[in-house]
Amino acid sequence: MTTDDVIKGYTFAEPALDLGALLVDGEPRPEAQVRIPLRMLNRHGLVAGATGTGKTKTLQLMAEQLSAAGVPVFLADIKGDLSGMAQPGEPSERLRARTAALGQDRTPQACPTEFYALGGVGDGIPLRATMTAFGPTLLAKVLGLNETQESSLGLIFHYADTQGLPLLDLKDLRSVIQYLIDNPEALKGVGGLSKQTAGVILRALVNLSAEGADRFFGEPEFDTADLMRLTPDGRGVVSILELPALQDRPQLFSTFLMWLLADLFSHLPEVGDPDRPKLVLFLDEAHLLFTDASKAFLRSVTQTVRLIRSKGVGVFFVTQTPKDVPADVLAQLGARVQHALRAFTPQDAKALKATVSTFPNSGYDLEEVLTQLGIGEAVVTVLSDQGVPTPVAWTRMRAPQSRMAPADPAVVQGVVAASPLLPKYGEAIDRQSAYEILAAKVAPAEDPAQPVDRAQPVEAQPSVLESVLGSQVFKSFARSAASSLGREISRSIFGTARRRR
Ligand SMILES: Nc1ncnc2c1ncn2[C@@H]1O[C@H](COP(=O)(O)OP(=O)(O)OP(=O)(O)O)[C@@H](O)[C@H]1O
Ligand SMILES: [Mg+2]
Repeated sequence: MTTDDVIKGYTFAEPALDLGALLVDGEPRPEAQVRIPLRMLNRHGLVAGATGTGKTKTLQLMAEQLSAAGVPVFLADIKGDLSGMAQPGEPSERLRARTAALGQDRTPQACPTEFYALGGVGDGIPLRATMTAFGPTLLAKVLGLNETQESSLGLIFHYADTQGLPLLDLKDLRSVIQYLIDNPEALKGVGGLSKQTAGVILRALVNLSAEGADRFFGEPEFDTADLMRLTPDGRGVVSILELPALQDRPQLFSTFLMWLLADLFSHLPEVGDPDRPKLVLFLDEAHLLFTDASKAFLRSVTQTVRLIRSKGVGVFFVTQTPKDVPADVLAQLGARVQHALRAFTPQDAKALKATVSTFPNSGYDLEEVLTQLGIGEAVVTVLSDQGVPTPVAWTRMRAPQSRMAPADPAVVQGVVAASPLLPKYGEAIDRQSAYEILAAKVAPAEDPAQPVDRAQPVEAQPSVLESVLGSQVFKSFARSAASSLGREISRSIFGTARRRR
């Protein structure tokens, strides 16, 4: 592989993100810029490498250039170090020398940002989703259910969907399960729900609320269209999900990210292969998505990643080794930015070999190169604007222009306070839903003077559906939420759903 091959391989007719410059014998070659065409970002990618090797900075570098190019970005900030994107980077002599040698004219600059927090834990616009929207597949993953329990959960959701019992928050789901335990005949004809399985699910839900999920499930539900915003001057908004408070609950946030993907997937129009993506998501600590995932969940991730491309959404997985990502997903990732790997243990060595085997042929001895890469260096290959893999290039990455450290808390708070989304999502609301409907049904406090009740023959017990449809609370819910009364909610391949807007 010569410098000329790299220059030729990375010269595109269309706009591209600048990643860095080729390194030859430890010297940067600014004439050989390594880039990724905007058009190819919906072909997804992987940023991998051992801890401290530069993955997050690579993500930041790509995100800020996307924003500048008018592409909105969503990213999960696990360690809190991406919040710095809201502030210009600090000028430093050392950094200036490094970037100048790469041909980068680094001008410290902040990005237009929006901060989010799951359920409002921490500084950020509260992100919430209803149980109904979240769906049984993702919830089973969060709860760590086995396949049998997962299918029972599917049955419970199906029951609630068909019976018009809105599942907005955790207590709605719990009350439906309790109702089904007390009234096993309700599920006759659609398969049964064993008391034992129902008990397991109930206990798992109790644990989940103990971990703070109560604040996440509910309304107002986040409209993923709010992630697609541009500033008046045409820059893409960088939406940063702040997660430090939820680090001990990785399942919830990673699963939330999949909900985002699924929701975007189900509701964005087909755009084929646009000039540039509509949105790019960076999923940091992506291994959390896949550990202990059920086959159904993995199938859904694979399918969503494959299909969301034609909606113009790009997904970048950021993780320590490619092995963290299932082979079927890995096979669909067009871009590779592989930072250094360690080779201390036999297990490391195996992971290294596996990583090398996922790269196209190159002039490098990758097993060696991958352990020699410096911090902020990576082995890169992407898809050219023609869709063919570019030459593998040992690259020294550019430095982000925004701050490479956490933002000042006051800056984050200022962004949140000024956000146009605060009035929309700031306050939680608790509307009439399954919990209230079932509570009203079980309670003996029905108005005895109600003519409908008296007209009914004693032996004809009203079905749940009938009593639910007749209940005042449901009528008022149906009005306020414009929910499709008694009709089954159609679920995406991910089992997620959304009420009509
Ligand atoms: N492109 C770059 N330009 C300049 N410095 C960099 C670059 N990439 C990384 N660094 C330096 O390396 C440090 C670690 O980088 P980073 O936080 O991106 O690592 P990481 O791979 O995300 O680590 P972890 O797995 O622990 O999250 C940064 O704080 C910065 O000082
Ligand atoms: Mg990191």
